[in-house]
Amino acid sequence: MCRGSLFPLFKGLAYIIMVAEQQAGAGLEAVSEGPVPGPGRRRRGNLERELLIQTALDGLGRSYAPYSHFHVSAALLCRDGKVYTGNNIENAAYSPGICAERCAFAKAVSEGEREFEAIVICGGPDGKAGDYCPPCGVCRQVMREFCNPDLFCIILAKSAEEYREYSLAQLLPESFGPDHLGGA
Ligand code: THU
Repeated sequence: MCRGSLFPLFKGLAYIIMVAEQQAGAGLEAVSEGPVPGPGRRRRGNLERELLIQTALDGLGRSYAPYSHFHVSAALLCRDGKVYTGNNIENAAYSPGICAERCAFAKAVSEGEREFEAIVICGGPDGKAGDYCPPCGVCRQVMREFCNPDLFCIILAKSAEEYREYSLAQLLPESFGPDHLGGA
């Protein structure tokens, strides 16, 4: 059989495999779950991760969320080891509100930080982190501005023991960033 007649068969097989893989992968898998090291420039120790998670959990009471009553807290770990916290700050005019993650990035970047390792995010109704709280799309894009998508680690936490870790690339695939403009 010539190559030309085999090609549609290969294409068909490839398609079946692709669909099967997509179905198997439905529901994104965290890079890690529970107390094991995840992605990042250096392997974060369990103690370092635990402290970062605790810092985010401790900040839950500082959200200003009188409209949604949904409190979000973030703890952002910089390459130099400094940690910046952030909370959602809502506004009566709604759109000026800011998410916890962008609050943390704004604090850090305005202090001169440019390199980041990881962020812990927690939140829930009335400040109870009962479920995982993933970052919104705008916050993911802001992370993309400053972080290497393959190395930056996003930790969603319910408690110091219950967390999920993702790379930014997992949560923002095929992303657009400063490199596309030849900048930064
Ligand atoms: N919120 C965050 O702080 N971070 C996110 O990534 C998702 C949403 C806040 C915004 C608003 O104050 C509240 O959660 C409800 O949307």
